[in-house]
Order: sequence, then C-alpha cells, then structure tokens
Amino acid sequence: MKTSGGSDAMKRRAGESAAERVTDGDVVGLGTGSTTAHAIRRLGDRVDAGLDIRGVPTSFASRELATDRGIPLLDLDEAVGPDGPGIDLAIDGADQVATGGEGSEIPETGGALVKGGGAAHAREKLVDATADRFLVVVDPSKESPRLDRSVPVEVLPAGRTAVAAAVRETGGEPTLRRAERKDGPVVTDNGNLVLDCAFGELADPAALSTTLSAIPGVVEHGLFVGLADEIHVGTDSGVRVDEV
Ligand code: 5RP
Repeated sequence: MKTSGGSDAMKRRAGESAAERVTDGDVVGLGTGSTTAHAIRRLGDRVDAGLDIRGVPTSFASRELATDRGIPLLDLDEAVGPDGPGIDLAIDGADQVATGGEGSEIPETGGALVKGGGAAHAREKLVDATADRFLVVVDPSKESPRLDRSVPVEVLPAGRTAVAAAVRETGGEPTLRRAERKDGPVVTDNGNLVLDCAFGELADPAALSTTLSAIPGVVEHGLFVGLADEIHVGTDSGVRVDEV
C-alpha cells in the first residue's frame, strides 16, 4: 500500500531538512521509505564530510542504504541497553499525517500518523518511540485534517484469521496485503503478515490505537499517536516545519 502523491523533489527537501537537525555525536533512528531515504543519503554525505554519528536502522532496507552510504550502525539493543547511548532523534516518513486544527473536530490529534506503507512499522515504532525527538518527513500529499487511510496491522501468521475477525468486530475491514513480485502475501522483516484495515475517517485515533494493540496476535499497528515532535513538509519552494 505504498503512497506517493508528492514529487521526489518535495520528499528530498523534507528528508534533507531533517538530516540537517542531526549534530555531531548523535545516535539517529533511520526510518524506512522513499522520503527518509533522502535523509539517509544526506546523512551519508555529512558523514563523508566528517560528521560523527551512529544510525539505528528500522528495516532491512534502511540498514542496506545506510551501510551503502557509510553510516556506522548500532542495533536497537546496543543503543538502549543499560550502557547504551540511547537514541537522540529519529527521522521517519508517514503515509498520512493529521494536521488537526481547522477542519478537525479533535485538534489534539494533530501530528497523529498512519505508517506502515512499507510494512516496517513495528520496528519503526520501537525506534521512533524510543528516540528523544521524532522528526517526521513528508510531502504535502500526506497531510489531512483527519486520518482516513487504512491502518496496517502486522499479525502473527497463525493469528491472521482471528485478528481479521476481531478487526471486523471493531468496525474495520481487513485486507491481507499481497506481494507484488511474489505469489502470496507480503512477509515482513519479522516474518509476519500485514492486514490493511479500513475504518473510514478515524474519529479517535488514540482509542483505536489502544483497541488494536489489545487484540491477541497483533504484533504492531501503524497508528503513531502522540509520538511526533516535528513535521518537516517539503513543498514546491522549500520546507515548512511544524512543531507538534
Ligand atoms: C514504511 C513507512 C514509510 O515511512 C511510509 O510508507 C512513507 O513512505 P514514503 O516516504 O516512501 O512515502 O511507514 O513502513
């Protein structure tokens, strides 16, 4: 369920803007997706120029790109263990961002996200939630007063039918995500499956987040509520940065 309305130039402006927030000595969570890839490439250029950082990847794809760009890496366990340095900031994309405010009945949900278009949301949430600051990088096509995209739900393979039934009971319509260049379903980096769950417009993302997390067999879902600190929106002419 990859989304892509905005141009690559907009994504690049957003990604590079967030990469400029990184300073010497930082441990940086490296999200997944085409917008974050611009941030990783920019960080690679800065490492070449002498910046001293370590990245914590959120997926096979972000690990591969960061390695290719010469960014030294840490595992999440090393970063957050008792003697670990922690994670100073995470940079990650989103499939939809609630702008809240005007047009929204619930302005306090501004900054809530739907993620998981690349099926990496379980590790992304671990890293993004652990970071001291979480910077979201998007183009304007991702912004909406209220969230209404399908919510990706990573499930244990043995639990997919039971989880699908529980999602229907909460008013959602689950669809097993199918692979594009392989027969059968998408299998995540964790060996699980993804149900894309349509709920229509989300009246209360925080409540839905709690409900989905409580379903046995759910590994993680793509609603990120109350996690974002800054939204970097790449536009035609520059970047808008919203503090959440
Ligand atoms: C991956 C994600 C991505 O961050 C999200 O899909 C946005 O990707 P892109 O920047 O390519 O539009 O959540 O699981």
